[in-house]
Amino acid sequence: MKPNNRKMLSHYVGTLFRYAPCRVTQSLTMMVFSGLTQGVGVVMLIPLLGLIGLNGAGEPSGLTRKIGRIFEWFRLDLTLVTVLCLYVGIVAVYAGITQYQSVLNTEIVQRFTKAIQDRLYRALCRAQWRCLIGTKSSQITQALTSDAQRVGFATQQLLQLSGIFIVACVHVWVALMISIPMTLFALACVSVFLLLLHPLNRRAHSAGETLRDGMTKLYGEVSEHLGAMKLARSHGLDSIHEENFRVITKGVADQMVLFSRINSTPRMIYEIGAAVVLAGFFYVAVEIFQIAPESLLIIVFLFARLLPKFSSIQQCAQRITNALPSFQALLDMERTFMENSEPAASYPAKNLVLENYIRLSNVCFRYTKSIGAWAVKDVSIVLPARKITAFVGHSGAGKSTLADLILGLFAPESGEIFIDGQPLKGARIHPWRQSIGYVPQETFLFNDTIRANLLWAMPRATEKELWDALELAAARDFVSRQPKGMDTPVGERGTRLSGGERQQIALARALLRRPTFLLLDEATSSVDSEGERRIQKAVNKLRGELTMLIIAHRSATIRMADSVITLSAGEVAGAEPSQAGSAKAKRCPPSYV
Ligand SMILES: Nc1ncnc2c1ncn2[C@@H]1O[C@H](COP(=O)(O)OP(=O)(O)OP(=O)(O)O)[C@@H](O)[C@H]1O
Ligand SMILES: [Mg+2]
Repeated sequence: MKPNNRKMLSHYVGTLFRYAPCRVTQSLTMMVFSGLTQGVGVVMLIPLLGLIGLNGAGEPSGLTRKIGRIFEWFRLDLTLVTVLCLYVGIVAVYAGITQYQSVLNTEIVQRFTKAIQDRLYRALCRAQWRCLIGTKSSQITQALTSDAQRVGFATQQLLQLSGIFIVACVHVWVALMISIPMTLFALACVSVFLLLLHPLNRRAHSAGETLRDGMTKLYGEVSEHLGAMKLARSHGLDSIHEENFRVITKGVADQMVLFSRINSTPRMIYEIGAAVVLAGFFYVAVEIFQIAPESLLIIVFLFARLLPKFSSIQQCAQRITNALPSFQALLDMERTFMENSEPAASYPAKNLVLENYIRLSNVCFRYTKSIGAWAVKDVSIVLPARKITAFVGHSGAGKSTLADLILGLFAPESGEIFIDGQPLKGARIHPWRQSIGYVPQETFLFNDTIRANLLWAMPRATEKELWDALELAAARDFVSRQPKGMDTPVGERGTRLSGGERQQIALARALLRRPTFLLLDEATSSVDSEGERRIQKAVNKLRGELTMLIIAHRSATIRMADSVITLSAGEVAGAEPSQAGSAKAKRCPPSYV
């Protein structure tokens, strides 16, 4: 095993032990008991064999005499009935311990898997937006599902390996009591096997890495094809994705078969080796050491059971090694998220009320820190409270990026954003976001009912508040016409609704929050002119109540703004009061400072 892999393995074992020290210790203790009861069960066969006359006419062996003395000490007669009853009793205890331990191990595996999934998800929920948009969603899905499950499987194998190892130790101990030289001989043979099979562990690890890469491609392909399914179907390009998928699944299947080959080799070698060792062993025992027949039978029985255990240990070790790349990937992703986490939010945070203005002072931002083009360059503007400001400009001018900066999703590379004079950073970000109603450029609806989509933003909203929000978004009529009204399912991402209807539900959802700041990024671009006119009428009613930022290309949408800021290549190219604003120009200061 490479030093790196060894380090990762010990880190993994350490993490598991730190996570559930009591449960793991309890499981290990049960394993010791289980091993001991198995060992005692085997030892009990010795007097049994003696009692049925398998020790021949000669003197009883040393071990038989020792067992006889233990029986005397407990004042038990060494009769066939007592020995059989004890044997059954011991097997029953062993079965009980095994059953308890199997449930306990499953509990450890499941809770550990859950813990690493929860930890990663918590890190994900706290990660900065910049870090999240740099991570593929399919990679996150893979880490949370396939990788976490593989780590769970490795944990199961680790516990199994520990159990087998303890039982093997007890078997060796019993064997040592029967014959030290024969036991050492058998252990020497096992060591040779272990050395011979050692290179397979490295191959198991690299197979694990290749398998993980294959799974990454698989998740990526499925996620991209599902996202572009309509487009692919419309262009008749499904077959390309089908072929890609076929190639990837073949790669994954090949890796699985390769690993199965690597993983089954030890069993084969141990089985052949065990037959050779046992034959030689029998010969040496009878011809050289002249071991008593009942001891010989027990020792052969022990080693016949012991050798497969070593092959199982090797197999478990390979399965763990094979899953280590998944553990590494989970840790790496969690570390990346943690290193790029947002300042901790204090719960429950009190919503902010915007009293005066949002001010951006010399704000600069680019998507790749320190290099690349500026998406926003030296922007200094003021968005007065309770006014409507519009951002206009060509595609790629930086409107949505500037909106994301105002939402606190990105931090400016230089310059600052102030909310009522307070810098938008640290603990202020969360209460600020709680006070916002936002309709993004790409509308997103959950695969649930209209009601559930609305309640997501405001879980305690009353029926009246829901209908009022739908009314404001000019959506009341079409929702009432739906077969189940507000309880109509919208389909995945809202595909059962038209583009305009989706936007209207998203707008109603944002308005339902009773935000202090409403940000609409192309929020009505798909709504028809009648719908837009009704939304404008409703929004006009809100004029003076809340602060609004509208991003739009349509002149009809911009017309309702008090002031319009034109962006070009990330910079402010101009600012002027719009028609709506010019009517009250005295009360509305220019937004460009
Ligand atoms: N996630 C991203 N990573 C890197 N660059 C980005 C990213 N998002 C946007 N950009 C770049 O930032 C610039 C501004 O993009 P932005 O989305 O703000 O434009 P916009 O004015 O909203 O355009 P549109 O009207 O088309 O929505 C563009 O050059 C764009 O290519
Ligand atoms: Mg945009």
